[in-house]
Amino acid sequence: MCGIVGYIGDKNPVEIIMAGLHRLEYRGYDSAGVAVVNENGLECVKSLGKLKVMDALLEEHPLTGNLGIGHTRWATHGVPSEVNSHPHFDMQKEIAVVHNGIIENYQELRAQLESEGVTFRSQTDTETIAHLVRKYYQGDLFKAVQRALQDVEGAYAIGVICKDNPDVMVAARHGSPLIVGVGENEAFIGSDVPAIMKYTRDVYYIDNGHVCEIARGNVRTEDLQGNPVALEMKHVDWDDAAAEKEGYPHFMLKEIHQQPDVIRNTLRGRVEEGSDAVYLPDMNISVEELKACQKITIVACGTAWHAGMVGKYLIEKFAKVPVELDLASEYRYRDPIVPPHTIMIPVSQSGETADTLEAIRIAKSLGAKVTSIVNAVGSSVARESHGVVYQQAGPEIGVASTKAYTSQVTAFALFTIWLAESRGIMDKAQAKEMISHLRAIPDKIQSILDNQDVIKRLANTPKYRDAQSALYLGRSFNFPSALEGALKLKEISYIHAEGYAAGEMKHGPIALVTDELPVVCVAVQGDTYDKMVSNIQEIKARAGLVVTVATEGDKDILAHSEDVVYIPECYEPYSPILVAVPLQLFAYYVAVNRGCDVDQPRNLAKSVTVE
Ligand code: AGP
Repeated sequence: MCGIVGYIGDKNPVEIIMAGLHRLEYRGYDSAGVAVVNENGLECVKSLGKLKVMDALLEEHPLTGNLGIGHTRWATHGVPSEVNSHPHFDMQKEIAVVHNGIIENYQELRAQLESEGVTFRSQTDTETIAHLVRKYYQGDLFKAVQRALQDVEGAYAIGVICKDNPDVMVAARHGSPLIVGVGENEAFIGSDVPAIMKYTRDVYYIDNGHVCEIARGNVRTEDLQGNPVALEMKHVDWDDAAAEKEGYPHFMLKEIHQQPDVIRNTLRGRVEEGSDAVYLPDMNISVEELKACQKITIVACGTAWHAGMVGKYLIEKFAKVPVELDLASEYRYRDPIVPPHTIMIPVSQSGETADTLEAIRIAKSLGAKVTSIVNAVGSSVARESHGVVYQQAGPEIGVASTKAYTSQVTAFALFTIWLAESRGIMDKAQAKEMISHLRAIPDKIQSILDNQDVIKRLANTPKYRDAQSALYLGRSFNFPSALEGALKLKEISYIHAEGYAAGEMKHGPIALVTDELPVVCVAVQGDTYDKMVSNIQEIKARAGLVVTVATEGDKDILAHSEDVVYIPECYEPYSPILVAVPLQLFAYYVAVNRGCDVDQPRNLAKSVTVE
């Protein structure tokens, strides 16, 4: 996620903005910039790279004034570069904008503005806002921003300043967080509390659809239609560490709770409300190539590999293309067969995993078309692939992957619909139904998060919390859920945990079953439900400790389980997205109860950039 800081008051804004941006560095970024209004008009310094580059540039070229905005960019549209870094400007360089979010209709806005004579400098969606504000500007910056945003669709948190309005900063929000801080004859804007907490703890949280006109000590707020809105002042008493996690005790828990919005962002700009078509222009694969494709190879590591397994099940079930799934570390050392028209889909949150990168290079050398599912824009995986589906999940700080996993599965769901429709395997009615199921996922995740007390209680039950080992079982789409649930538990609580295909129980693992072995069984409603119940009964018959993840309303399962965790009813092929959440929470709370370092587990790195 990008970082925004702005200031208006009697102090020099640059020092305040840069201090605020440094406080937001934990969010991850690839470039930065600052603009100020002063007697010279609008002045700006921006650069690729870390804030220390900006610090050095500002040392050489100090900026002065009493009004300014700054930004750290986590790229979503347009690779990391100086020209793509924020702030962005109108053609006259008299209006500056910083933005966090995704403008879904930026391409049509850009085309319209270019047809009206506007020349763009960058590849970003953000720049369209600067030109739109100019288009409607007639001396009142607040009104111009308010009108411009009526043309915008998507998620935004923006700060806007103008050379000819030195006493006003304008801020607005829809979907991406933004706060206004108020001090003595001064005011601030920030993406979240850490950015401005050093200067004021009195803040307004801007709500969706609201625009704020911010003067030295006064904030006026209206909705986009001009109706006045009263904001409630909050006093924040977090310490610094808590502020970075927005009040959550760990980044991992914060990121688990971000998942409803993360799934909305992964879908954003790719499926329209009520539509029957998926839009993935960055995949860079033609319909002809999709039709000619005889084999898809998915390669990844760890959690990303589990997402790839769900992808395999989805693609083969709905698009009828054979899918080879392999660990990148295995793929690179065997002699893979790459027939003509093979498409490789690498999956990687960081985009820097060494084994995945090497697998890409091998596949390309053997003629494969490579199009990756990746979170980090402009990362090595993205750059070395022919095409990409960016997850749009924002930076994942916790070493244990959570939101990146559910975002990757969602990306595979999108790709599958697009592939199946392109190959004429899926008709528009089915595509519309599947898109509707996808769009229902975020609210279902939210209901799991709202009812997590059962999971917290289980995680603090000695027979689970103090277990020496655990088994996770699932079938079909939820076999990867079992693998992922086991990985979550083992990597943050250090309890040995193994994920297994439930049908394999009798081929060995059932020998492990005792009354001290927790066996987590994914038995949601679906094609393999009855088989799962049979497996559970086999375990219960041997005094096994069964914790079942089941579908709300399923009372029968209670008779076969020690404990049950319910998830909302869900379209089975997409149930791994929901199932992941209680298993993430279970692993998290067990690890916390065992006093483990949840965000930085021992021996682990967030990105395995070496073999
Ligand atoms: C999962 O919780 C781990 N952090 C790890 O397995 C991770 O998924 C794996 O290293 C792949 O990383 P990537 O997605 O950045 O390539």
